[in-house]
Amino acid sequence: MTSDFEYIDGELYVEKVPVKKICEDFGTPVYIYSHNFIRSSFFEYKRAFREIDPLICYSVKANSNLSVLKIFCSMDCGFDIVSSGELQRVIKVGGNPSKVVFSGVGKTEEEIETALRSRILFFNVESEAELRKINEVALRLEQKAPVAIRVNPDINPDTHPYISTGFEKSKFGIGISKAMDVYKNASLMKGIEVKGIDAHIGSQIFDLSSFSESISKLIYLAENLSRHGIQVSYIDIGGGLGISYESEEKPPAKSEYAKVFEEYLRDTSYRLVLEPGRSMVGNAGIMATRVLYIKDGTSKKFVIVDAAMNDLIRPAFYDSFHRIEPVRGIDLESSDVVDIVGPICESGDFLARDRNFPAVSSGELLAVFSAGAYGFVMSSNYNTRPRAAEVLVSGDRYCEIRARETVEEMLKAERIAEFL
Ligand code: LLP
Repeated sequence: MTSDFEYIDGELYVEKVPVKKICEDFGTPVYIYSHNFIRSSFFEYKRAFREIDPLICYSVKANSNLSVLKIFCSMDCGFDIVSSGELQRVIKVGGNPSKVVFSGVGKTEEEIETALRSRILFFNVESEAELRKINEVALRLEQKAPVAIRVNPDINPDTHPYISTGFEKSKFGIGISKAMDVYKNASLMKGIEVKGIDAHIGSQIFDLSSFSESISKLIYLAENLSRHGIQVSYIDIGGGLGISYESEEKPPAKSEYAKVFEEYLRDTSYRLVLEPGRSMVGNAGIMATRVLYIKDGTSKKFVIVDAAMNDLIRPAFYDSFHRIEPVRGIDLESSDVVDIVGPICESGDFLARDRNFPAVSSGELLAVFSAGAYGFVMSSNYNTRPRAAEVLVSGDRYCEIRARETVEEMLKAERIAEFL
C-alpha cells in the first residue's frame, strides 16, 4: 500500500477521505478506490517502458467500473476486452476502439460482428475454429479482420493453477508448435489480416524468467513467420505481473519487468502490447466491511462480518490472502487467532482463516486490502445478497460510482411461471 491508503491519527484514510466517513454515507460492504493510485500505476508503466513505448491495454476484467475505465481513457490508455459487454463499457466512456484488443476463448458471432463494426485494433484468436468464424463474419461485412494468434508457449509459471494459462494442457491459445501452420492458413484467408502474435501465460506472476521465456518464444516465432513472408507488427505479451498482497511479498518493480522486454525488442520494429490488470488496480482498492458479531466457537473464535464470499470470492476460490485491518487503527493491544467470515451458508465463506487479529467488537469497521482487482467484478448475488456499493476517492472528493444493489433490482428479471 502507498500513502493513498494511510493511517492518520489512528484512522484509515483513502487519499484525504476517512474510510469511516464513506461507510457512514454509503453503508457496508463498500469497495473504495483511489483515483491517484490508478493514475500513478499507469504512469509508472509508461515511465518504466518509455524506451520502447508499448501500447498499454488495461485489462478491463480486473475492474470494469465505468469511472475506473474513464480514468484510463483520460490517460489515452488502450483496453483488453473479453466480451462485447466490456467493449460497450469502453465505448461508453469514450475509449478509442482502435486501441482495443479482444481476447477470450469463446467469442460469439455477434461479438465478432460488433467488434468488427467498431474497428478494434485486433482479435486475439484462440483456435482455428474461431479463426474460420472471424474470417466468415469479416467476409460477410466486406471487411478484413485484424488478428493476432494467441499462442500457448508452454510455460508453467509459479502461480495458482486456476490463474496459470500458458501451459500446454490449458484451454487457452494454440500450441506454439502448431502456430506456423495456423498463420499460413490465416494469411490465405480473404477476410483476415495478420497483425500480431499474442500470449498470456497467467496472473500474479513474480518470476521474470517466465516472461522472458515467453517473449523470446514469441519473437522466435515472429522471425520465423517473416522468413515465410508473414510480417507481424504487434507482439502482445498479455498481462500477469504480480502485486503484493502481504507486506513480505516483493513483486518485481515495473522497471525490472520492462527491462525483460526492452532487451528483446529494442532493435526490432515490433510494437509491444501489454494487457495489465491486477498490477494497475489491485492495490488501488479496499473493501470495507462491518463486524456483525464475535462468536467464541468451541475450538475457534469467529469474527462475523457483513461482507461475504459473494462480495469478495478470492479467499474462498483461490485460498488467497488479503490483509485485513481495523479501520480505527492498527496499534491495538490484545490479539487473538480468528477466522473472519461472512454470513453465507458455506464453510468456504471466509475472508481470512487462522489470522492473528486485534480484539474487535460488533459494529467495528474493517478494511480488506488489495481488493481493487477481481473484487467487485467477481461478486455475485448468492444468498440473494445485493452487491456492494463502489466509491471513488480523488483527493478530498469522493463519489459513489456504483450504487448498492437493491433486492427489487435483483428480483426484477424474475417471473413466476404462469402455470404455477
Ligand atoms: N490478458 C488476458 C488474456 C487475461 O486472461 C488476463 C487475466 C489479463 C490480461 C490480465 O491479467 P493480470 O494483469 O490481471 O494478471 N480472478 C483471478 C485472476 C484471473 C485472471 C484472468 N485473466 C484472481 O482473482 O486472481
